[in-house]
Amino acid sequence: MHGYMFDNSATAEYQRLDLMSKILDPRTRASLSSLGLTKGWNCLELGGGNGSITEWLCEVVGESGSVASVDINPKLLELIPSQNLSVRKVDVRTEDLPAGPFDLVMCRATLHQVSEYAPAVLAKMAASTRPGGWIFVCEPDFNLVRTCEPAAWAKAWNGIIEWGHSQGVEWYIGRKLPAMVQALGFGYPEAKTEVPNIRGTTRDALYFQMVFEMIRDRAIESGFVDAPTLDAASKLLADPDAWTQCWMLTSVWIRKPLQ
Ligand SMILES: C[S@@+](CC[C@H](N)C(=O)[O-])C[C@H]1O[C@@H](n2cnc3c(N)ncnc32)[C@H](O)[C@@H]1O
Repeated sequence: MHGYMFDNSATAEYQRLDLMSKILDPRTRASLSSLGLTKGWNCLELGGGNGSITEWLCEVVGESGSVASVDINPKLLELIPSQNLSVRKVDVRTEDLPAGPFDLVMCRATLHQVSEYAPAVLAKMAASTRPGGWIFVCEPDFNLVRTCEPAAWAKAWNGIIEWGHSQGVEWYIGRKLPAMVQALGFGYPEAKTEVPNIRGTTRDALYFQMVFEMIRDRAIESGFVDAPTLDAASKLLADPDAWTQCWMLTSVWIRKPLQ
């Protein structure tokens, strides 16, 4: 069983998660709001990370609602001052989730880290959801980047993806997510996939520069990618006139039947 590839309490990882939240949160908030999320809901988030969605959920559900957020490393979640929040250290692969039932059980950018267990984790999420409640998941899929231009960008990502797979990370999970959620037996889920366009020097570019820096030594040491290839890809991210694409973001949601 692989450990999580980053350390949430490290400064660089805090900054990476912060940037990721700024990129993803507007989309995630809009998706969750469209489910009818409102005051009084009881919510559970798996792999809450830096807690940006956790804290927002606490604000939206208010004093009459509650939020439970779990993570294998809950250090950043524990910093959230919300009174309607409970935080627990949970390895979602092997441990039980907090007792529900919840109106919303969600998870973002976490299942790809525990991909072998993803169907089992989804089953736990389903069991924690009240009849009539919602399950929402969002995961990346990096398949597109392997054919994106320029060639150095695609080459770097081919190596990074192979290295990730050797670490137990499934960076092609997005496309599998709708069928995985359908396998819960609650009917056909809704699904959408978005592809951000990335321009050098923007927030999205800085995010991927940080990813490169953080994995650089380990990825090069693995032999799946070399330093000149990574440097060429990183250079692209520093060019304000360079445009490319990288990840696809797949969101899937379903309502648990009332009976
Ligand atoms: C890429 S971060 C995403 C964080 C947050 N969900 C977001 O979208 O901003 C993945 C999170 O999953 C957590 N994680 C990884 N493996 C886990 C496991 N086995 N059980 C619980 N949490 C896990 C990590 O600690 C990290 O906070």
